[in-house]
Amino acid sequence: MAQPQRSPSSNRWLAEHHADPHVLAARREGYRSRAAYKLLEIQEKYKLLKPGMTVLDLGAAPGGWSQVAASLVTPQGKVVAVDLLPMAAVAPHVTVLQGDFLDDLVVDTIHQSLAGGRAQVILSDMAANMSGNRTLDSLRGERLAEAVFQVVHHTLAPDGILVMKVFQGGAFSTLMVQGKELFRTVRMTKPTASRDRSPEQYMIGLGFRGPGLVREVVS
Ligand SMILES: C[S@@+](CC[C@H](N)C(=O)[O-])C[C@H]1O[C@@H](n2cnc3c(N)ncnc32)[C@H](O)[C@@H]1O
Repeated sequence: MAQPQRSPSSNRWLAEHHADPHVLAARREGYRSRAAYKLLEIQEKYKLLKPGMTVLDLGAAPGGWSQVAASLVTPQGKVVAVDLLPMAAVAPHVTVLQGDFLDDLVVDTIHQSLAGGRAQVILSDMAANMSGNRTLDSLRGERLAEAVFQVVHHTLAPDGILVMKVFQGGAFSTLMVQGKELFRTVRMTKPTASRDRSPEQYMIGLGFRGPGLVREVVS
């Protein structure tokens, strides 16, 4: 059967993808995504994840970050992984939930999976859907980050840690201000596994001030 014609740009993307050293390493080492190496680099630099911790991984599919987190925190700790897309089971002590983290029912299920407790670490590798319109995309990115801050407010343990993807752009300085309201220390990092042309960076929030100590950052 005839194969559908691909555009030159998607052919270029595919060729680049298959030659990417992190894609090749992920295949070799059994990670579900090249993104796993971003979290591994962040872990190498900041030593955030420790045995026994409870981790909430927002936007987890296909599961590279959950694999990395599970290997560092289990069997004493656990990972709750949430994504809009279906995601295959990762390992014992990793609960996989399918749904939108903004949906109240999903939020309730997250809280049940945390057994009414709070996570010590929240990971978010999510990106808003891009339209190509810079102003709109910046606004969408800001909204998404603010929604993650709300989850932090309701779900992260005092002194807890956030690792969240953010994009350079109009909303960046606002997000820094909001991050600093929630966390004692805020760092930005761009792992080498993150492609140079991508405007993504990761916000590391250390020392969550606690739900009683900060005002809600989003009204
Ligand atoms: C870049 S991928 C995450 C890759 C993952 N860290 C890994 O290592 O495999 C971002 C994911 O965020 C998910 N996502 C985006 N918005 C979401 C939402 N509102 N609720 C749940 N998942 C969401 C997408 O479905 C997508 O799978």
